[in-house]
Amino acid sequence: MNQLFINTKITKGHIRKEIQGNFSEHLGRCIYGGVYVGENSDIPNVNGMRTDIVEALREVGLPVLRWPGGCFADEYHWKDGVGPKETRKKMVNTHWGGVTEDNSFGTHEFFELCRQIGCEAYITGNVGSGTVQEMNEWVEYMTFDGISPMANWRKENGREEAWKLDFFGIGNEPWGCGGNMTAEYYANEYRRYQTYVRQYRNDAKVKKIAAGPSSSDYHWTEVLMQSAGKMMDGLSLHHYTIPHDWNHKGSALKFNRDDYFCTLQNALFMDELIRRHGAIMDQYDPEKRVGLIVDEWGTWFDVEEGTNPGFLYQQNTMRDAMVAGLTLNIFNKHCDRVHMANIAQLINVLQALILTEGPRMLLTPTYFAFKLFKDHQENELLDSHLQAPDLDAEGYRIPALQESSSIAPDGTVHVTLVNPSPDQGQELDILTQGLSPRHVVGRMLTGNVDDHNTFDYPDAVEDQPFVSFTVKADGLTVSLPPCSIVHLAIK
Ligand code: AHR
Repeated sequence: MNQLFINTKITKGHIRKEIQGNFSEHLGRCIYGGVYVGENSDIPNVNGMRTDIVEALREVGLPVLRWPGGCFADEYHWKDGVGPKETRKKMVNTHWGGVTEDNSFGTHEFFELCRQIGCEAYITGNVGSGTVQEMNEWVEYMTFDGISPMANWRKENGREEAWKLDFFGIGNEPWGCGGNMTAEYYANEYRRYQTYVRQYRNDAKVKKIAAGPSSSDYHWTEVLMQSAGKMMDGLSLHHYTIPHDWNHKGSALKFNRDDYFCTLQNALFMDELIRRHGAIMDQYDPEKRVGLIVDEWGTWFDVEEGTNPGFLYQQNTMRDAMVAGLTLNIFNKHCDRVHMANIAQLINVLQALILTEGPRMLLTPTYFAFKLFKDHQENELLDSHLQAPDLDAEGYRIPALQESSSIAPDGTVHVTLVNPSPDQGQELDILTQGLSPRHVVGRMLTGNVDDHNTFDYPDAVEDQPFVSFTVKADGLTVSLPPCSIVHLAIK
Protein backbone atom coordinates (compact mmCIF):
# COMPACT_ATOMS: atom_id res chain seq x y z
CA MET A 1 0.00 0.00 0.00
CA ASN A 2 1.29 3.52 -0.83
CA GLN A 3 1.88 5.61 2.28
CA LEU A 4 2.09 9.33 2.92
CA PHE A 5 3.54 10.54 6.22
CA ILE A 6 2.70 14.11 7.13
CA ASN A 7 4.17 15.60 10.28
CA THR A 8 1.76 18.43 11.07
CA LYS A 9 4.16 19.83 13.69
CA ILE A 10 7.16 20.39 11.41
CA THR A 11 7.05 23.22 8.88
CA LYS A 12 9.60 23.70 6.12
CA GLY A 13 9.02 27.12 4.61
CA HIS A 14 6.42 29.64 3.58
CA ILE A 15 4.42 29.04 0.40
CA ARG A 16 4.14 32.48 -1.14
CA LYS A 17 0.90 33.02 -3.01
CA GLU A 18 2.93 34.32 -5.96
CA ILE A 19 3.93 30.72 -6.81
CA GLN A 20 0.52 30.51 -8.49
CA GLY A 21 1.04 33.59 -10.67
CA ASN A 22 0.39 34.05 -14.34
CA PHE A 23 1.84 35.76 -17.37
CA SER A 24 0.09 37.91 -19.99
CA GLU A 25 1.91 39.05 -23.10
CA HIS A 26 0.93 41.12 -26.12
CA LEU A 27 0.89 37.88 -28.07
CA GLY A 28 -1.92 36.48 -30.20
CA ARG A 29 -5.24 36.82 -28.39
CA CYS A 30 -4.01 37.04 -24.82
CA ILE A 31 -4.63 40.76 -24.32
CA TYR A 32 -6.68 41.84 -27.36
CA GLY A 33 -9.56 39.43 -27.93
CA GLY A 34 -8.69 37.87 -24.60
CA VAL A 35 -8.96 39.83 -21.41
CA TYR A 36 -9.27 43.26 -23.05
CA VAL A 37 -12.20 43.90 -25.34
CA GLY A 38 -12.33 47.69 -25.04
CA GLU A 39 -14.91 49.93 -23.42
CA ASN A 40 -17.21 49.92 -26.45
CA SER A 41 -17.48 46.15 -26.84
CA ASP A 42 -20.84 44.35 -26.70
CA ILE A 43 -19.16 41.77 -24.49
CA PRO A 44 -19.87 42.73 -20.88
CA ASN A 45 -16.86 44.57 -19.53
CA VAL A 46 -15.74 47.08 -16.94
CA ASN A 47 -13.39 49.70 -18.37
CA GLY A 48 -12.67 47.34 -21.26
CA MET A 49 -11.84 44.24 -19.16
CA ARG A 50 -14.09 41.22 -19.78
CA THR A 51 -16.26 40.69 -16.75
CA ASP A 52 -16.50 36.88 -17.08
CA ILE A 53 -12.71 36.58 -17.26
CA VAL A 54 -12.08 38.90 -14.34
CA GLU A 55 -14.60 36.92 -12.26
CA ALA A 56 -12.92 33.61 -13.14
CA LEU A 57 -9.50 34.99 -12.22
CA ARG A 58 -10.78 36.31 -8.90
CA GLU A 59 -12.35 32.92 -8.22
CA VAL A 60 -9.07 31.06 -8.85
CA GLY A 61 -7.25 33.53 -6.58
CA LEU A 62 -4.77 34.81 -9.18
CA PRO A 63 -2.13 36.46 -6.99
CA VAL A 64 0.17 38.20 -9.48
CA LEU A 65 0.24 38.96 -13.19
CA ARG A 66 3.34 39.51 -15.33
CA TRP A 67 3.13 41.91 -18.32
CA PRO A 68 3.79 43.04 -21.14
CA GLY A 69 6.13 40.18 -22.21
CA GLY A 70 8.00 37.99 -22.94
CA CYS A 71 9.86 38.85 -26.08
CA PHE A 72 7.40 41.69 -26.61
CA ALA A 73 8.76 43.49 -23.54
CA ASP A 74 12.11 44.19 -25.18
CA GLU A 75 10.46 46.00 -28.07
CA TYR A 76 7.84 47.75 -26.01
CA HIS A 77 8.12 51.49 -25.48
CA TRP A 78 5.80 52.34 -22.65
CA LYS A 79 5.32 55.99 -23.61
CA ASP A 80 3.49 54.84 -26.75
CA GLY A 81 0.87 53.21 -24.52
CA VAL A 82 -0.26 56.13 -22.34
CA GLY A 83 -2.39 59.21 -23.01
CA PRO A 84 -5.44 59.55 -25.25
CA LYS A 85 -6.01 56.28 -27.10
CA GLU A 86 -6.70 58.03 -30.43
CA THR A 87 -3.20 59.44 -30.52
CA ARG A 88 -1.30 56.39 -29.27
CA LYS A 89 1.36 55.26 -31.67
CA LYS A 90 0.77 52.06 -33.60
CA MET A 91 3.63 49.59 -33.93
CA VAL A 92 4.34 46.23 -35.48
CA ASN A 93 4.52 43.27 -33.15
CA THR A 94 7.52 41.69 -34.87
CA HIS A 95 7.78 38.69 -32.59
CA TRP A 96 4.21 37.57 -32.67
CA GLY A 97 2.62 37.41 -36.11
CA GLY A 98 3.72 40.83 -37.35
CA VAL A 99 0.33 42.26 -36.40
CA THR A 100 -0.39 45.90 -35.65
CA GLU A 101 -0.22 46.78 -31.99
CA ASP A 102 -2.35 49.85 -31.41
CA ASN A 103 -1.18 50.37 -27.83
CA SER A 104 -4.74 50.71 -26.54
CA PHE A 105 -3.79 48.45 -23.64
CA GLY A 106 -0.96 50.17 -21.80
CA THR A 107 0.22 50.94 -18.29
CA HIS A 108 -3.06 52.43 -17.04
CA GLU A 109 -5.05 49.52 -18.44
CA PHE A 110 -2.71 46.95 -16.92
CA PHE A 111 -3.03 48.43 -13.46
CA GLU A 112 -6.80 48.65 -13.93
CA LEU A 113 -6.85 44.93 -14.78
CA CYS A 114 -4.81 44.11 -11.67
CA ARG A 115 -7.18 46.25 -9.58
CA GLN A 116 -10.22 44.40 -10.88
CA ILE A 117 -8.64 40.98 -10.33
CA GLY A 118 -7.20 42.01 -6.98
CA CYS A 119 -3.70 40.82 -7.89
CA GLU A 120 -0.17 42.18 -7.68
CA ALA A 121 1.60 43.77 -10.64
CA TYR A 122 4.79 42.40 -12.18
CA ILE A 123 6.08 44.52 -15.07
CA THR A 124 9.03 43.67 -17.29
CA GLY A 125 11.08 46.57 -18.63
CA ASN A 126 12.87 46.92 -21.94
CA VAL A 127 16.63 46.30 -21.85
CA GLY A 128 17.02 44.86 -25.36
CA SER A 129 15.99 47.94 -27.32
CA GLY A 130 15.23 50.48 -24.60
CA THR A 131 17.35 52.94 -22.69
CA VAL A 132 18.16 53.29 -19.03
CA GLN A 133 16.36 56.63 -19.09
CA GLU A 134 13.21 55.08 -20.55
CA MET A 135 13.15 52.45 -17.82
CA ASN A 136 13.92 54.97 -15.10
CA GLU A 137 11.10 57.23 -16.28
CA TRP A 138 8.61 54.36 -16.43
CA VAL A 139 9.22 53.54 -12.78
CA GLU A 140 8.93 57.25 -11.91
CA TYR A 141 5.67 57.47 -13.89
CA MET A 142 4.18 54.51 -12.07
CA THR A 143 5.38 54.94 -8.53
CA PHE A 144 6.32 58.55 -7.73
CA ASP A 145 3.73 60.54 -5.82
CA GLY A 146 5.34 64.01 -5.71
CA ILE A 147 5.98 66.61 -8.37
CA SER A 148 8.09 65.44 -11.28
CA PRO A 149 7.80 65.36 -15.07
CA MET A 150 6.63 61.75 -15.13
CA ALA A 151 4.33 61.95 -12.10
CA ASN A 152 2.78 65.09 -13.56
CA TRP A 153 2.26 63.37 -16.89
CA ARG A 154 0.57 60.43 -15.18
CA LYS A 155 -1.79 62.85 -13.45
CA GLU A 156 -2.55 64.60 -16.76
CA ASN A 157 -3.39 61.14 -18.11
CA GLY A 158 -6.02 60.67 -15.43
CA ARG A 159 -4.25 58.91 -12.58
CA GLU A 160 -3.63 61.05 -9.54
CA GLU A 161 -2.15 58.52 -7.15
CA ALA A 162 1.00 56.50 -7.76
CA TRP A 163 0.44 52.80 -8.25
CA LYS A 164 1.92 50.00 -6.18
CA LEU A 165 4.36 48.18 -8.43
CA ASP A 166 5.24 44.93 -6.74
CA PHE A 167 7.85 43.43 -9.09
CA PHE A 168 9.92 44.87 -11.91
CA GLY A 169 11.86 42.67 -14.34
CA ILE A 170 15.03 44.07 -15.90
CA GLY A 171 14.60 42.69 -19.41
CA ASN A 172 13.44 39.31 -20.67
CA GLU A 173 15.48 36.44 -22.09
CA PRO A 174 18.55 38.61 -22.81
CA TRP A 175 20.26 35.40 -23.97
CA GLY A 176 17.76 35.24 -26.87
CA CYS A 177 14.97 37.53 -28.06
CA GLY A 178 15.94 40.12 -25.46
CA GLY A 179 19.24 41.05 -27.11
CA ASN A 180 21.34 37.90 -27.68
CA MET A 181 23.70 38.84 -24.87
CA THR A 182 26.22 36.73 -23.04
CA ALA A 183 25.74 36.17 -19.31
CA GLU A 184 28.72 38.40 -18.57
CA TYR A 185 27.44 41.25 -20.74
CA TYR A 186 23.91 41.07 -19.35
CA ALA A 187 25.18 40.93 -15.76
CA ASN A 188 26.79 44.34 -16.33
CA GLU A 189 23.71 45.69 -18.05
CA TYR A 190 21.61 44.42 -15.15
CA ARG A 191 23.80 46.23 -12.64
CA ARG A 192 23.49 49.47 -14.60
CA TYR A 193 19.76 49.38 -15.40
CA GLN A 194 18.67 48.31 -11.92
CA THR A 195 20.56 51.26 -10.41
CA TYR A 196 17.98 53.60 -11.93
CA VAL A 197 14.95 51.60 -10.85
CA ARG A 198 14.38 53.96 -7.95
CA GLN A 199 12.45 53.22 -4.81
CA TYR A 200 10.01 56.12 -4.55
CA ARG A 201 7.61 54.60 -2.03
CA ASN A 202 8.54 53.84 1.54
CA ASP A 203 5.48 51.66 1.97
CA ALA A 204 5.99 49.50 -1.11
CA LYS A 205 9.40 48.49 -2.31
CA VAL A 206 9.69 47.48 -5.95
CA LYS A 207 11.28 44.02 -6.03
CA LYS A 208 13.85 43.79 -8.81
CA ILE A 209 14.00 40.63 -10.90
CA ALA A 210 17.05 39.84 -13.02
CA ALA A 211 16.51 37.90 -16.23
CA GLY A 212 17.73 34.41 -15.52
CA PRO A 213 18.66 31.28 -17.41
CA SER A 214 16.94 29.22 -20.02
CA SER A 215 16.28 25.76 -18.56
CA SER A 216 19.61 24.14 -17.65
CA ASP A 217 21.99 27.01 -18.44
CA TYR A 218 23.72 26.83 -15.05
CA HIS A 219 26.57 29.08 -16.21
CA TRP A 220 24.08 31.94 -16.55
CA THR A 221 22.97 31.53 -12.94
CA GLU A 222 26.56 31.35 -11.70
CA VAL A 223 27.57 34.56 -13.51
CA LEU A 224 24.49 36.52 -12.49
CA MET A 225 24.64 35.50 -8.85
CA GLN A 226 28.34 36.17 -8.57
CA SER A 227 28.24 39.51 -10.29
CA ALA A 228 24.88 40.93 -9.27
CA GLY A 229 23.27 38.63 -6.68
CA LYS A 230 23.36 41.36 -4.04
CA MET A 231 21.50 43.78 -6.31
CA MET A 232 18.46 41.64 -7.03
CA ASP A 233 15.41 40.29 -5.22
CA GLY A 234 14.85 37.53 -7.72
CA LEU A 235 16.43 35.69 -10.63
CA SER A 236 14.08 34.33 -13.24
CA LEU A 237 14.05 30.89 -14.84
CA HIS A 238 12.26 29.95 -18.07
CA HIS A 239 11.44 26.34 -18.76
CA TYR A 240 8.76 25.03 -21.11
CA THR A 241 7.50 21.46 -21.20
CA ILE A 242 7.52 19.95 -24.65
CA PRO A 243 7.22 16.28 -25.50
CA HIS A 244 10.27 14.98 -27.41
CA ASP A 245 11.94 18.07 -28.95
CA TRP A 246 11.09 21.49 -30.34
CA ASN A 247 10.53 20.08 -33.83
CA HIS A 248 8.26 17.28 -32.64
CA LYS A 249 6.03 18.91 -30.06
CA GLY A 250 2.88 17.46 -31.55
CA SER A 251 -0.72 18.41 -31.09
CA ALA A 252 -2.20 19.56 -27.79
CA LEU A 253 -5.22 17.31 -28.39
CA LYS A 254 -4.05 14.32 -30.39
CA PHE A 255 -1.27 12.44 -28.64
CA ASN A 256 -0.41 8.85 -27.79
CA ARG A 257 0.77 7.19 -24.56
CA ASP A 258 4.40 7.78 -25.44
CA ASP A 259 3.77 11.51 -25.94
CA TYR A 260 1.84 11.60 -22.67
CA PHE A 261 4.54 9.96 -20.57
CA CYS A 262 7.28 11.96 -22.28
CA THR A 263 5.44 15.22 -21.53
CA LEU A 264 5.06 14.34 -17.86
CA GLN A 265 8.67 13.25 -17.48
CA ASN A 266 9.80 16.53 -19.02
CA ALA A 267 7.54 18.49 -16.67
CA LEU A 268 9.12 16.69 -13.71
CA PHE A 269 12.51 17.96 -14.87
CA MET A 270 11.50 21.20 -13.15
CA ASP A 271 12.50 19.59 -9.85
CA GLU A 272 16.08 19.02 -11.01
CA LEU A 273 16.26 22.52 -12.48
CA ILE A 274 15.23 24.12 -9.21
CA ARG A 275 17.61 21.96 -7.20
CA ARG A 276 20.60 22.66 -9.42
CA HIS A 277 20.00 26.37 -9.97
CA GLY A 278 19.15 26.57 -6.26
CA ALA A 279 22.45 24.94 -5.29
CA ILE A 280 24.35 27.60 -7.26
CA MET A 281 22.27 30.36 -5.69
CA ASP A 282 22.95 28.87 -2.23
CA GLN A 283 26.67 29.54 -2.67
CA TYR A 284 26.06 33.28 -3.03
CA ASP A 285 22.85 33.59 -1.06
CA PRO A 286 22.70 30.93 1.66
CA GLU A 287 19.84 32.76 3.42
CA LYS A 288 17.73 32.34 0.29
CA ARG A 289 16.88 36.04 0.18
CA VAL A 290 16.94 36.02 -3.63
CA GLY A 291 13.96 34.18 -5.06
CA LEU A 292 14.08 31.87 -8.04
CA ILE A 293 11.28 33.33 -10.12
CA VAL A 294 9.99 30.77 -12.61
CA ASP A 295 8.24 33.44 -14.63
CA GLU A 296 7.63 31.34 -17.74
CA TRP A 297 6.67 27.68 -17.52
CA GLY A 298 4.07 25.34 -18.97
CA THR A 299 3.38 23.19 -22.00
CA TRP A 300 4.21 24.25 -25.53
CA PHE A 301 2.58 22.24 -28.33
CA ASP A 302 1.91 22.87 -32.02
CA VAL A 303 -0.65 25.60 -32.64
CA GLU A 304 -4.22 24.49 -33.36
CA GLU A 305 -4.78 23.75 -37.03
CA GLY A 306 -5.84 26.76 -39.05
CA THR A 307 -4.66 29.31 -36.47
CA ASN A 308 -1.91 31.91 -36.90
CA PRO A 309 1.43 30.19 -36.09
CA GLY A 310 2.60 33.41 -34.45
CA PHE A 311 -0.31 33.39 -32.00
CA LEU A 312 0.66 30.19 -30.10
CA TYR A 313 -2.96 29.15 -29.58
CA GLN A 314 -3.28 25.59 -28.26
CA GLN A 315 -6.08 23.58 -26.67
CA ASN A 316 -5.70 22.23 -23.17
CA THR A 317 -6.45 18.74 -21.87
CA MET A 318 -6.13 16.69 -18.71
CA ARG A 319 -2.52 16.12 -19.79
CA ASP A 320 -1.96 19.86 -19.23
CA ALA A 321 -3.71 19.63 -15.87
CA MET A 322 -1.32 16.84 -14.87
CA VAL A 323 1.64 19.02 -15.85
CA ALA A 324 0.20 21.87 -13.79
CA GLY A 325 -0.47 19.66 -10.77
CA LEU A 326 2.99 18.06 -10.82
CA THR A 327 4.68 21.43 -11.27
CA LEU A 328 2.72 23.23 -8.56
CA ASN A 329 3.58 20.43 -6.12
CA ILE A 330 7.26 20.82 -7.07
CA PHE A 331 7.07 24.58 -6.47
CA ASN A 332 5.49 24.01 -3.05
CA LYS A 333 8.25 21.59 -2.09
CA HIS A 334 10.85 24.22 -3.06
CA CYS A 335 9.05 27.19 -1.56
CA ASP A 336 12.16 28.27 0.34
CA ARG A 337 13.80 29.20 -2.99
CA VAL A 338 10.91 29.57 -5.45
CA HIS A 339 9.33 32.88 -4.50
CA MET A 340 7.16 33.34 -7.56
CA ALA A 341 6.14 31.46 -10.71
CA ASN A 342 4.07 32.58 -13.68
CA ILE A 343 2.54 30.03 -16.02
CA ALA A 344 2.56 30.96 -19.71
CA GLN A 345 0.06 32.29 -20.45
CA LEU A 346 -3.21 33.62 -19.05
CA ILE A 347 -5.61 33.40 -22.01
CA ASN A 348 -5.51 31.88 -25.53
CA VAL A 349 -1.72 31.41 -25.52
CA LEU A 350 0.25 28.22 -24.71
CA GLN A 351 -0.92 26.54 -21.48
CA ALA A 352 -3.77 28.92 -20.87
CA LEU A 353 -6.19 28.97 -17.96
CA ILE A 354 -8.91 30.43 -20.18
CA LEU A 355 -9.80 30.22 -23.88
CA THR A 356 -12.11 32.59 -25.71
CA GLU A 357 -13.94 32.62 -29.03
CA GLY A 358 -15.74 35.91 -29.59
CA PRO A 359 -18.12 36.32 -26.67
CA ARG A 360 -17.71 32.69 -25.59
CA MET A 361 -15.15 31.57 -23.04
CA LEU A 362 -14.16 28.34 -21.35
CA LEU A 363 -12.07 27.37 -18.36
CA THR A 364 -9.40 24.79 -19.18
CA PRO A 365 -8.37 21.73 -17.12
CA THR A 366 -5.29 23.78 -16.15
CA TYR A 367 -7.62 26.38 -14.59
CA PHE A 368 -9.21 23.69 -12.43
CA ALA A 369 -5.79 22.33 -11.43
CA PHE A 370 -4.88 25.80 -10.16
CA LYS A 371 -8.20 25.99 -8.33
CA LEU A 372 -7.34 22.81 -6.42
CA PHE A 373 -4.02 24.31 -5.30
CA LYS A 374 -5.43 27.68 -4.28
CA ASP A 375 -5.71 26.81 -0.58
CA HIS A 376 -1.93 26.34 -0.28
CA GLN A 377 -1.40 30.08 -0.81
CA GLU A 378 0.36 31.74 2.16
CA ASN A 379 0.49 28.46 4.14
CA GLU A 380 3.51 26.80 5.71
CA LEU A 381 4.88 23.78 3.87
CA LEU A 382 4.68 20.65 6.01
CA ASP A 383 7.26 17.93 6.37
CA SER A 384 5.83 15.06 4.33
CA HIS A 385 7.17 11.88 2.74
CA LEU A 386 5.49 9.68 0.19
CA GLN A 387 6.31 6.02 -0.18
CA ALA A 388 5.12 4.89 -3.58
CA PRO A 389 6.77 3.00 -6.42
CA ASP A 390 7.42 4.48 -9.83
CA LEU A 391 4.70 4.14 -12.41
CA ASP A 392 5.14 1.54 -15.11
CA ALA A 393 5.47 4.28 -17.72
CA GLU A 394 6.99 2.42 -20.65
CA GLY A 395 10.55 3.47 -19.93
CA TYR A 396 9.81 6.97 -18.66
CA ARG A 397 10.56 7.88 -15.04
CA ILE A 398 7.35 9.05 -13.40
CA PRO A 399 6.24 8.44 -9.80
CA ALA A 400 2.98 6.57 -9.24
CA LEU A 401 1.86 9.40 -6.93
CA GLN A 402 3.07 12.86 -6.05
CA GLU A 403 2.04 15.29 -3.31
CA SER A 404 2.65 18.40 -1.27
CA SER A 405 1.15 19.30 2.10
CA SER A 406 0.80 22.58 3.95
CA ILE A 407 -0.80 24.00 7.05
CA ALA A 408 -3.01 27.11 6.98
CA PRO A 409 -3.01 29.75 9.73
CA ASP A 410 -6.26 28.23 11.08
CA GLY A 411 -4.60 24.81 11.48
CA THR A 412 -6.24 23.14 8.48
CA VAL A 413 -3.89 20.77 6.66
CA HIS A 414 -4.08 20.96 2.87
CA VAL A 415 -2.85 18.09 0.74
CA THR A 416 -2.69 18.02 -3.07
CA LEU A 417 -2.21 14.59 -4.62
CA VAL A 418 -1.50 13.80 -8.25
CA ASN A 419 -2.07 10.39 -9.78
CA PRO A 420 -0.51 10.68 -13.26
CA SER A 421 -1.36 7.17 -14.44
CA PRO A 422 -3.63 7.21 -17.51
CA ASP A 423 -5.42 4.03 -16.45
CA GLN A 424 -4.50 2.91 -12.93
CA GLY A 425 -6.19 3.97 -9.71
CA GLN A 426 -4.14 4.20 -6.50
CA GLU A 427 -4.87 3.47 -2.85
CA LEU A 428 -3.03 5.65 -0.36
CA ASP A 429 -2.72 5.57 3.42
CA ILE A 430 -2.18 9.06 4.83
CA LEU A 431 -0.77 9.30 8.34
CA THR A 432 -1.23 12.73 9.87
CA GLN A 433 1.24 12.81 12.72
CA GLY A 434 0.09 15.30 15.36
CA LEU A 435 -3.44 15.57 14.01
CA SER A 436 -6.38 13.25 14.52
CA PRO A 437 -8.72 14.20 11.67
CA ARG A 438 -12.26 15.14 12.62
CA HIS A 439 -13.42 16.73 9.39
CA VAL A 440 -12.15 16.18 5.83
CA VAL A 441 -13.35 17.89 2.65
CA GLY A 442 -12.11 16.73 -0.75
CA ARG A 443 -12.29 18.05 -4.30
CA MET A 444 -10.94 16.42 -7.42
CA LEU A 445 -10.24 16.83 -11.11
CA THR A 446 -10.19 13.66 -13.17
CA GLY A 447 -10.82 12.37 -16.68
CA ASN A 448 -9.20 10.69 -19.63
CA VAL A 449 -5.83 12.13 -20.50
CA ASP A 450 -7.17 13.92 -23.57
CA ASP A 451 -10.44 15.17 -22.06
CA HIS A 452 -10.92 18.89 -22.56
CA ASN A 453 -13.52 21.61 -22.73
CA THR A 454 -14.85 23.05 -25.97
CA PHE A 455 -16.95 26.10 -26.66
CA ASP A 456 -19.91 23.77 -27.32
CA TYR A 457 -19.24 21.68 -24.19
CA PRO A 458 -17.49 24.08 -21.82
CA ASP A 459 -18.25 22.01 -18.70
CA ALA A 460 -16.99 18.59 -19.84
CA VAL A 461 -14.03 18.84 -17.45
CA GLU A 462 -14.31 20.59 -14.12
CA ASP A 463 -13.53 19.99 -10.47
CA GLN A 464 -16.00 18.01 -8.40
CA PRO A 465 -16.45 16.79 -4.83
CA PHE A 466 -14.17 13.95 -3.80
CA VAL A 467 -15.52 11.46 -1.27
CA SER A 468 -13.46 8.29 -1.82
CA PHE A 469 -11.73 8.35 1.56
CA THR A 470 -12.16 6.82 4.99
CA VAL A 471 -11.17 8.82 8.05
CA LYS A 472 -9.25 7.00 10.80
CA ALA A 473 -7.86 8.03 14.19
CA ASP A 474 -4.37 8.69 12.81
CA GLY A 475 -5.14 9.78 9.26
CA LEU A 476 -7.17 8.59 6.32
CA THR A 477 -7.23 6.11 3.48
CA VAL A 478 -7.78 7.54 0.04
CA SER A 479 -8.67 5.98 -3.28
CA LEU A 480 -7.51 8.05 -6.25
CA PRO A 481 -8.88 7.49 -9.75
CA PRO A 482 -6.48 7.42 -12.72
CA CYS A 483 -5.35 10.75 -14.14
CA SER A 484 -6.48 12.81 -11.18
CA ILE A 485 -5.61 15.69 -8.89
CA VAL A 486 -7.17 15.61 -5.43
CA HIS A 487 -7.22 18.37 -2.85
CA LEU A 488 -7.95 17.42 0.76
CA ALA A 489 -8.63 19.91 3.53
CA ILE A 490 -8.09 18.08 6.82
CA LYS A 491 -9.06 19.44 10.23
O1 AHR B 1 5.70 32.78 -23.85
C1 AHR B 1 6.09 32.90 -25.15
C2 AHR B 1 7.55 33.36 -25.31
O2 AHR B 1 8.39 32.38 -24.81
C3 AHR B 1 7.93 34.59 -24.53
O3 AHR B 1 7.62 35.76 -25.21
C4 AHR B 1 9.41 34.45 -24.41
O4 AHR B 1 9.91 35.08 -23.25
C5 AHR B 1 9.61 32.95 -24.40
O5 AHR B 1 10.62 32.57 -25.27
